[in-house]
Order: sequence, then C-alpha cells, then structure tokens
Amino acid sequence: MHGTILTLLKRYVQTQYDHSTWVKLVELAGLDRVDFDHKNVYPDEHVYALVGHAAEMTGLPAGELHEKFGEYLVPDLMYMYQKLLRPEWKTLDMLEHTELTMHHQVRKEHAENSPPVLEVTRLGPNELMIDYVSPRRMSGLAVGIVRGLAVYFDEADRIDVMPTVSEEGERVRIHVRRR
Ligand code: HEM
Repeated sequence: MHGTILTLLKRYVQTQYDHSTWVKLVELAGLDRVDFDHKNVYPDEHVYALVGHAAEMTGLPAGELHEKFGEYLVPDLMYMYQKLLRPEWKTLDMLEHTELTMHHQVRKEHAENSPPVLEVTRLGPNELMIDYVSPRRMSGLAVGIVRGLAVYFDEADRIDVMPTVSEEGERVRIHVRRR
C-alpha cells in the first residue's frame, strides 16, 4: 500500500486518539521497527494488522474504521493531486473521473501501486453507481472517501451513499445519490 495512506493513518490515529495510542498500535501489530514514509510502498498486511488491532482496541468494527479513515483522507488526497482537478467538478463528477484521473496517475507513479478499479456508471445528473473491485476488500474506505468528497465539495447534507451489498467483499456496488 502507498506510503501516503500509511502516513495518513498514523496521523489519523495520533490526532483522533493520541500519540501513545499509535505507539501501542504499532507494537501490537509488530511494526514498531517500521518507519512509515510517504515515498515507500508497504505490504498490505501492515494495513490489515494496524486496522485489525485498532478495531480490537476501540471496539469499533474494521468496516466502520475504514469509513472514518476514508473520510479523513480526502482533504490531503485532494491537495496532493489538485492539478488533476477541474474547477467545475462537484462530488459526482469527481467520482466519475477518479478512475481515469487520480487512480490512473497513482498507477503510473509506481508499478507496485494498485488502487482499486472503480467502474462508475452515471445514472443521471444526480445519481451514479460505483462498482468497487479489489482483493483488499476495503470498500468501507471507498464509502468514507465518498462522504469526505461530499464534505469537500460542500454537499454533505445532499449526498446519500448506499452500499448495496455487504462491505466486506471484493466486489461491492455503491449507489450515490444527490438529493
Ligand atoms: C480524490 C482523489 C483520489 C486519490 C488521489 C486517490 C488515491 C489513492 C491512493 C494513492 C491509493 C493507494 C493505492 C495503493 O497503495 O496501491 C488509493 C487507494 C484506494 N482508493 Fe483512492 N483515491 C482517490 C479517490 C478515490 C475514490 C473516489 C474512491 C472510492 C469512491 C477511492 C477508493 C479507494 C480505496 C477503497 C482504496 C484502498 C485500496 C483498495 O481498496 O484496493 N479512491 N487511492
């Protein structure tokens, strides 16, 4: 997994909880010797171990943690890849273009990067369907990112995000509607 995601996970735990929680988490995950840097790519197992232990520590299900973390990621991701944004885009346009802009760029940056394939079907001006496909089974993160984008584009009170099947699978359809 892209080092940016891991360094943001570290910052998320440090700011939402505190630094000692992060220290405890990396110890439990057996990762206390790993130096997380945004320029590196880390085994996916590091993320699974960190989120798994975070779920145990907080009592929150891993899916819920993924959602919260996804929401938190958005401002930084948007800042990092701002050159690819178009000023007229709002939440649904951003989702429609992620695969060919942001995730396309991420794949180009490093051969080991493998963001999920997001097949997005625009059903109308105010509605679309995301087909998430990834062996990482992190569609909760996708749901959180959609919520974060709605906040970013100042549409949080109008955007509904509805996964149509359990969020734990490799293939998850997410219905997004603007009221
Ligand atoms: C806003 C612009 C976005 C940027 C800059 C971005 C960037 C990234 C990056 C760098 C990764 C790590 C990839 C890797 O380590 O292989 C990633 C993973 C991921 N992205 Fe995006 N992303 C964006 C939007 C989205 C959107 C809109 C969704 C879903 C609606 C999404 C869903 C995910 C998920 C679920 C992962 C975790 C890995 C997986 O499930 O396989 N991203 N993204």
